[in-house]
Amino acid sequence: MALLRTGGVVAFPTETVYGLGADAENEQAVRRVFAIKGRPAGHPVIVHVADASQLDAWAREISAEARMLVERFWPGPLTLVVSRNTRASDVVTGGQDTVAVRAPAHPIAQDILQRFGGGIIAPSANLFGTVSATHAEHVAADLGDAVDLIVDGGPATIGIESTILDVAHGTPAILRPGGITREQLSEALGIDVAEAGDSRVRVPGSLPSHYAPRARVELVDTDRNADARAERLRAGGLRTQVIHAEDVVPFAHELYERFRAADRAGVDAIVVVLPADTGLGVAVRDRLRRAAARSSRG
Ligand code: TXA
Ligand code: MG
Repeated sequence: MALLRTGGVVAFPTETVYGLGADAENEQAVRRVFAIKGRPAGHPVIVHVADASQLDAWAREISAEARMLVERFWPGPLTLVVSRNTRASDVVTGGQDTVAVRAPAHPIAQDILQRFGGGIIAPSANLFGTVSATHAEHVAADLGDAVDLIVDGGPATIGIESTILDVAHGTPAILRPGGITREQLSEALGIDVAEAGDSRVRVPGSLPSHYAPRARVELVDTDRNADARAERLRAGGLRTQVIHAEDVVPFAHELYERFRAADRAGVDAIVVVLPADTGLGVAVRDRLRRAAARSSRG
């Protein structure tokens, strides 16, 4: 805790992925996180808090809907984009009038946040543009000595980043699908929650090149098509791996480790069978599409 209080940078596990944490009110520490990640300035980060009681410290004009969602889904993998108050600096928000806030459920993240007391910014603990870190070893491999401390809590539980929901611009809209599903949000709000199609807010995670391994990623619908495609790629001389159809929960949990393992092993191409487009599958398909988009551009 002393480390965070004095502007240190600490990587820690959350239930989604590992975060690279720093005191959200220490601009110098926040800038250091950007530098370590190689993240361009102007890309907003999420403020992590211990619980709902801390939302008002960062936000203003919180709607009844937003409060209800917080009651229902915090702590957990739901990030809310809300109107910011003066505590949220331009470094944190990328100069926008909104701030993203979430209370992670992981016991280690909870322990750190409760003892620290304030807000901790924590982007995913990976180099900008690469696959998020779901194991402490991933953080060490990407960021190593640049970080003051890596808290090893074993593999992250869900394995895919939080859902980002914009509740600052009228009807709530999903900016990034994640651990809390569209079905859960629609049920809680009593409306059909949509994916944001416009770009009033900047979400770097929505750049197609995010979440990509070095290997090229190809997406198919069935195990049979995967095997056929892999055979052709291998015939063309590419070291090819197949990720077969699987239940979406273990799929999400393992995905980034599989991407990283493939890169460590020098695999050229990964053929992935897409999960169904419901529940957590929506978020998994979103990340897979981005990984494949990068591949197709070379
Ligand atoms: O699961 C997660 O959310 C993980 C763990 C560590 O909590 N964190 C994470 O942070 O994924 P990061 O920085 O890798 O992704 C945060 C996303 C970015 O795409 C950013 O653009 C978006 O949140 N974001 C942050 N503030 C925003 C804002 N005010 N409006 C819109 N999007 C925002
Ligand atoms: Mg990230």
